Amino acid sequence: MSETLELAVVIPTFNELRNVPLLIAKLDAALGGRGWEAIFVDDDSPDGTAQAARDIALTDRRVRVIQRIGRRGLSSACIEGMCATAAPVVAVIDGDLQHDETILPAMLNALQADATLDVVIGSRFVAGGGTGEWDHDRVAKSALATRISRRVLKADLNDPMSGFFMIRSAIVRAMIPSLSAIGFKILLDIMTASPRPLKFLELPYTFRLRTEGESKLDYVVAMEFLIALYDRMFGRIVPVRFVMFSAIGAIGAVVHLAVLWALFRESGLEFVAATIVATLVAMTFNFFLNNALTYRERRLKGARGLFDGWVSFCLVCAVGAAANVGVAAFLFEVQHGAWALSALAGIVVAAVWNYALSSRFVWGR
Ligand code: GDD
Ligand code: MN
Repeated sequence: MSETLELAVVIPTFNELRNVPLLIAKLDAALGGRGWEAIFVDDDSPDGTAQAARDIALTDRRVRVIQRIGRRGLSSACIEGMCATAAPVVAVIDGDLQHDETILPAMLNALQADATLDVVIGSRFVAGGGTGEWDHDRVAKSALATRISRRVLKADLNDPMSGFFMIRSAIVRAMIPSLSAIGFKILLDIMTASPRPLKFLELPYTFRLRTEGESKLDYVVAMEFLIALYDRMFGRIVPVRFVMFSAIGAIGAVVHLAVLWALFRESGLEFVAATIVATLVAMTFNFFLNNALTYRERRLKGARGLFDGWVSFCLVCAVGAAANVGVAAFLFEVQHGAWALSALAGIVVAAVWNYALSSRFVWGR
């Protein structure tokens, strides 16, 4: 362990217990003789991935572990890992052996040989690379996402969706405040956040099949991809969380009307009673949807956490509703009956209020 630290390999993990020892053995074989360390950034995997990595780290000091508690997210995990090293160069590689670690030395050599080069990207879409045994469906989805992100990126990068790359640590550290850190696509985030175009090189590799554990790419991750793109394009004007919060609020209004219709029109309940029930149902619906989506990475859990969150969310919304009525009534008065405009202004005020206070008091840390 006397060599100078050249490279940190950051490995985001969630439930990759059985892959941990395999990956370290592979890194050891690929990087033997180089000054490297591996940093597992684990989001408190229930299967004990972090402990498995610590068990190895006890005797192999090239292995390090960051265990994040109460947080989720591939991109944010990578960022934290990249900030936690003294190495001048950092790589990000999946923990499930799907990326080809044998090209790491060539990636490192390229960066060391050319000081003007910023990033080396493991690419499935340059000559010699490939997606391996992917089925048609995944190839099609990946191609679509790649096309969209190439448009956002405005650079001639063949595999912007790659999660396998190597970059100078100082470059990443300097741009942390402008990273969106949402979702899976950390490379795209970095490439689009950089104030100057980064000079990159793509090296081919073939995506392997996963043999242990399961993929975490689900519909929410796909949605997060779109959210991250929105954030990159318009996030500075209207924050992405506010857009999600408002969209969920709009769905909540539909739920409210549906419940009202069922109770008042269909079951003959009194209007006021039906409205109270409809309001409660809509608020509850909004609370859970926001908890699962808008605030996914800091979602409230457990009966107690959920109950307290729900109560404070209802309180915040109650004040928001009062403000809504107040503003609408006032405008209706001074605008002499412009009812739709007044209502709309009330809704906007309530949405901003509900968003600002619930992000602070319901999901705040
Ligand atoms: N810390 C942390 N937190 N790690 C996570 C999380 C999370 O919330 N979600 C996933 N990971 C880890 C997984 O454990 C794995 O090591 C790696 O991130 C990739 O996750 P997979 O679930 O295996 O993703 P995939 O293979 O479907 O998707 C990959 O698609 C790209 C190519 O299309 C991405 O991960 C990219 O890296 C890859 O290049
Ligand atoms: Mn994978």
